[in-house]
Amino acid sequence: MAGASIAEDQDSKNDSLTAGRITLERDLIDLLLTRRSVVANQLGEPGPGRDQMDLILTAGIRVPDHGKIGPWRLQVLDKQAQAELGEVLAGEFLARFPEANEKQVAFERNRPQRAPGFIVVSSRLNRQHKVPEIEQLLSCGAVCTNILNAAVALGFSAQWLTEWPAYNDAVKAALGVPGDQHIIGFIYIGTAAEPPGERVRPERDAVATYLSSLPASAEPTD
Ligand SMILES: Cc1cc2nc3c(=O)[nH]c(=O)nc-3n(C[C@H](O)[C@H](O)[C@H](O)COP(=O)(O)O)c2cc1C
Repeated sequence: MAGASIAEDQDSKNDSLTAGRITLERDLIDLLLTRRSVVANQLGEPGPGRDQMDLILTAGIRVPDHGKIGPWRLQVLDKQAQAELGEVLAGEFLARFPEANEKQVAFERNRPQRAPGFIVVSSRLNRQHKVPEIEQLLSCGAVCTNILNAAVALGFSAQWLTEWPAYNDAVKAALGVPGDQHIIGFIYIGTAAEPPGERVRPERDAVATYLSSLPASAEPTD
């Protein structure tokens, strides 16, 4: 399996990097079948080191990308940058809710610092390109999913959040995200204090159908 040989190459480069890494096909499907998010405020140290973060980013951008546009940008904020972003959030929150109490403002200030690893994924859509915007946005979403899976493959836990800051102009400006682009997600990565419980999932057969002929009705099926 190609993935195994890539993993072996990287294993030989740096064994400590690959602790907990998947190397077998079986492990990959298990990961996909069992991955769970862990809420950001339950993600503690350790977070990914620099080499591990590099792997997560490299895996993150290995996504389907119609037209080779690369319509995404990734920013990894260290503790200082997370704290600076927290100040922006606290300021914006207070501007919107001047009556907010100290605890609420402190929560906003801490919001980007809930986990040791913090990646901002934003769009860089090329609206002149013939590939439709929706496809470029879907590629951005795929980056976030790949980041989650890569983080879990390295033994971490993660959560993809947007919350109000993703839709706030001052937050976008502070991160250098142009007004006509989107913050696709804030990805929090760290180590879970305890494994998460399962979450109710849609039944596969309620959403997926094998067709041997087209549906009789022209109406969309539920
Ligand atoms: C684009 C996007 C934005 C999300 N934003 C939030 C959010 O702001 N707050 C939240 O609680 N969950 C949010 N989620 C959901 C979590 O990422 C996650 O799916 C949820 O915690 C369930 O975990 P699971 O990955 O184990 O299904 C978002 C998911 C997506 C795809």
